[in-house]
Amino acid sequence: MTTLDEANTSEGRFAEIMSVLAASRLPDPYPRYREIRQLGAFLPGDLAGSTVTLVTTLAGATAVLAHPAIGHGYRDGVSYRGDAEDGLGSLLRADPPDHARLRRLVGKAFTPAVIADLVPELTALLDELLDTAIDRGEVDAVEALARPLPLRMMCRLLGVPAEDEQEFGGWADALARGLDPPALMTPAEKTARQRATVAFDEYFRALIARRRGAPREDLLSRLVAIHDDGDVLSERELLELCTLLLVAGYETTVNLISGGILALLGNPDQLAALRADPALVGPAVEEMLRYDPPVQFIARTVLADAEIGGHAFTGGDGVLMIIGAANRDPEAFDQPDRFLAGRYAGAGRTPRHLGFGAGIHYCLGAPLARIEAELALRGLLRRTRSFTLAEQAVAYRDQIVIRGVRTLPLRLFA
Ligand code: HEM
Repeated sequence: MTTLDEANTSEGRFAEIMSVLAASRLPDPYPRYREIRQLGAFLPGDLAGSTVTLVTTLAGATAVLAHPAIGHGYRDGVSYRGDAEDGLGSLLRADPPDHARLRRLVGKAFTPAVIADLVPELTALLDELLDTAIDRGEVDAVEALARPLPLRMMCRLLGVPAEDEQEFGGWADALARGLDPPALMTPAEKTARQRATVAFDEYFRALIARRRGAPREDLLSRLVAIHDDGDVLSERELLELCTLLLVAGYETTVNLISGGILALLGNPDQLAALRADPALVGPAVEEMLRYDPPVQFIARTVLADAEIGGHAFTGGDGVLMIIGAANRDPEAFDQPDRFLAGRYAGAGRTPRHLGFGAGIHYCLGAPLARIEAELALRGLLRRTRSFTLAEQAVAYRDQIVIRGVRTLPLRLFA
């Protein structure tokens, strides 16, 4: 463990930031996050030539995410901190008032009815996947269960036909690193991401044109058709939104489902509690988002000097919220390192976690992600007597912001 004195030198603080970022790929990054939280709620350090403040507590991260002086400063595809163009400028990196305009337009298309329409197809797909998995007895639960469900959901949402699903999944894998800081990616990873962005853009340009001519019941057709007091989404905005929906909504949901299964395997008493009371599935999904959040870090830029939570932020600096640390803050949660399926059962018992973020950028797809994870868990519990891990060591994917297992070898007993 690093001492406060060591961490307080410039090199020490750079090393702290790098080691915290690298921790999200470990099977258990939480001891590292605990150490860093014990150093303080706000920890300024240097990263790629600029000052970045790590925020480690629930109260600190919530206050930062809600503060008007904190945003992205992202204009015309480039943030003033120099991030490369990655197609995610729309919505996720927009500041007020542009953000409010985009969110209102997207919100008009992304309605509860759109989500409800997807449920029957997802339920049928899950039954098929479970039939196959149970027949085989031993499967990689990522490929057999956790990945196909969000992939189908994303394809239906964006109107991608079934025959293109696999190719689409390949781009999604390359784009998933789109949320990682460019400074921490290898040239090969950047090239793969660029190629996928170009292929994805070409594909969606054509699909948008088709939907303009012949609208269907999918979200893409609704986004194309939106009019709000004469305001419409431009072609560029539509393309960026499609990329964003894919990057924000696919890999994250895969990892919530696989990470959730893993959390249950590591906590057999909680799994037994869920089997005894299926009404706990909803609260258990909430606990999964707290206990091992698929999004490990949220980055922002300080737009103007401000004091937040007793810390002085300087305009132009960066801020990195460590969600895995905030979600296990002992000031906010009882027994923060325990997975408790019933923690969120009963209204108002527990402070909100930051698994879906907070403030104006709070996850737009949260209701959909919750439904998918609940469907998958309910199905798995209903169709199996038990399930166990077929191998002891589980490897994590080589990503920083989005955390998830590479494979999850599972034995199923019907
Ligand atoms: C378990 C699954 C998911 C997790 C853990 C997750 C997490 C998050 C987080 C932490 C943010 C805030 C990012 C920030 O403040 O910078 C966010 C934003 C967002 N999410 Fe999700 N998400 C999930 C699923 C989805 C799905 C299924 C969709 C859409 C189909 C989606 C669409 C979005 C969008 C569009 C934003 C940006 C909202 C804005 O900037 O106003 N997410 N998500």
